[in-house]
Amino acid sequence: MIEVKNIKKGFGDKLVINDVSAVMDDGKCNLIIGSSGSGKTVFMKCLVGLFRPDAGQILYNGEDFTAMSEEQRKEVRKEIGMLFQGSALFDSLTVEQNIQFPLNMFTDWSPAEKRKRVNEVLERVELKDANKKFPSEISGGMKKRVGIARAVVLNPKYLFCDEPNSGLDPQTSLVIDKLIKELTVEYKITTVINTHDMNSVMEIGDKIIYMYKGEKEWEGNNKEIIFSKNQRLNEFIFASEFLRDAKDMRMLEQAGKIDNNRNMDDLIK
Ligand SMILES: Nc1ncnc2c1ncn2[C@@H]1O[C@H](COP(=O)(O)OP(=O)(O)OP(=O)(O)O)[C@@H](O)[C@H]1O
Ligand SMILES: [Mg+2]
Repeated sequence: MIEVKNIKKGFGDKLVINDVSAVMDDGKCNLIIGSSGSGKTVFMKCLVGLFRPDAGQILYNGEDFTAMSEEQRKEVRKEIGMLFQGSALFDSLTVEQNIQFPLNMFTDWSPAEKRKRVNEVLERVELKDANKKFPSEISGGMKKRVGIARAVVLNPKYLFCDEPNSGLDPQTSLVIDKLIKELTVEYKITTVINTHDMNSVMEIGDKIIYMYKGEKEWEGNNKEIIFSKNQRLNEFIFASEFLRDAKDMRMLEQAGKIDNNRNMDDLIK
């Protein structure tokens, strides 16, 4: 579990994260949503220690990450896997060399032990046949899978994914979402995902935190989000008039006030 308490982060006189508190649950996909510039990436970078917050606490298993010595922070970082936006693979390394990279950095395992672990993870993300390829030779969806494999190769307790679906088609996005969700449940990882993708929100959003201009505006799960009355959240999610109308119909239908089939037909016309 990660507990975030009242964190603030600014650049110059611009406050980007303003007094955000949240709990990221174990074995769950915790989604951070919000429009571009709302502070999702800055928030995530504070959580993984790439930015130091100006105020507040980030507790990993009850220990305050922000108050730790560099040595202690390094220990926590070993338990963190991160999938960067755009995958951030090393172009000059093959798929298996990319995945092995964290093992070279953080373990003193023998070459045979490393190879075994890399093969396990490659198999898990269904990339065994692509092990000798370079990033330029594989598709965007495969790159994401390599990024995920590299993020989980050290068996992290915490997994952070910044926009895991950016640049992918809806079906490939779904495959990536499902993989992240399965790994989260299988290994009881505390997963935090920044996303714009409403399909992800509905598919894997165990907990959803909606950020608006650097503040936490709403929190709930993928069932509650449909019926939320938060106006800003609704404007974000139901950005098109069509979806807003569809949502209103759904609510009326739930209340037993309309015959949904007939009215959905009217809507589509
Ligand atoms: N290193 C930095 N120095 C100064 N300002 C920054 C820095 N990083 C981010 N910002 C500012 O912080 C704000 C939030 O940026 P952030 O990247 O967190 O948004 P985001 O919600 O992740 O957006 P997107 O959905 O486009 O990825 C933006 O106004 C951005 O300009
Ligand atoms: Mg971002």
